[in-house]
Amino acid sequence: MPTILSLILFLLAGLAGSSAIAAEPELTITMGGTSVRISRAELLARRDVATVTVPHDSAYGRPMTYRAVPLRALLADLPPSAADTIAARATDGFVSQLPRSLIDGASVPWVAVEDAAHPWPNLPGQSVSAGPFYLIWQHPELGHVSSEQWPYALAGFAEVASPLQRWPGLAVDASLPADAPARRGQAVFIVNCLPCHRLAGNGEGVAGPDLLRPMPAVTYFTADGLRALIRDPAAVRTWPAQRMPGFAADVVSDADIDAVIGYLRVQAARRTEPSP
Ligand code: HEC
Repeated sequence: MPTILSLILFLLAGLAGSSAIAAEPELTITMGGTSVRISRAELLARRDVATVTVPHDSAYGRPMTYRAVPLRALLADLPPSAADTIAARATDGFVSQLPRSLIDGASVPWVAVEDAAHPWPNLPGQSVSAGPFYLIWQHPELGHVSSEQWPYALAGFAEVASPLQRWPGLAVDASLPADAPARRGQAVFIVNCLPCHRLAGNGEGVAGPDLLRPMPAVTYFTADGLRALIRDPAAVRTWPAQRMPGFAADVVSDADIDAVIGYLRVQAARRTEPSP
């Protein structure tokens, strides 16, 4: 005989299950002060949906073919925006700050849409796919699109000011020469690390730890340890839930890694200086 409690639990479980099936994923786009939510079905029904094959898919690490909608057309459906950056936000706290110039440049961005009837495979080493929405690029090499500019599990896109305007604390001191490695490191960090890591609260990515606060990562990691970790985190330590991706040399060169470490050192030194 089921107790009243087990009956209630049974009914609640049924409700949760049916709402999960019924919930149609939506992509939120905010541009020109206007916000729209577009469902997966609406995206797949658009006239400009196309079949797009990418020979070197960033998330899957192999050739992939998708049903996809051109991002430029999606953005053009909304009022124009003067913002120079589009934040591509994922449901797991990853946020790529995409320069408008990259979106409108030589590489062509598409929003791949996972059709519930034809689900994508799970991501390597994970129990989820890149869906329901995933930003993919045609000719990524032309615009030097980095692996961290292919956000998957996308929640939406929003116009924002550039990272250095939003978080001036990310900028190295203005007195540093234009060719100082830390300046190069700042640029490498903003594209490749800021999507997951903040620096003393500067940034909006929360998929990884803040690398300056409470203790700067450069204080408790040696330069060799950091170099190894950025190239391949599993070369330093491993556990099942490890999430940080390694950076291949064609994405972040040895010189870029040294530059980013130099940048983290400069930022750590600035933080420990007594305030004026
Ligand atoms: C996709 C998200 C992601 C990106 C991009 C990323 N990281 Fe990480 N990182 C993580 C996560 C998550 C951790 C925590 C350990 C783990 O799960 O792998 C981490 C850990 C670290 C640590 C160790 C911190 C500690 O206290 O243990 C350092 C240092 C680090 N990352 C530096 C970087 C640098 C530098 C870059 C850019 C070149 C970068 N990460 C890019 C997600 C990311």
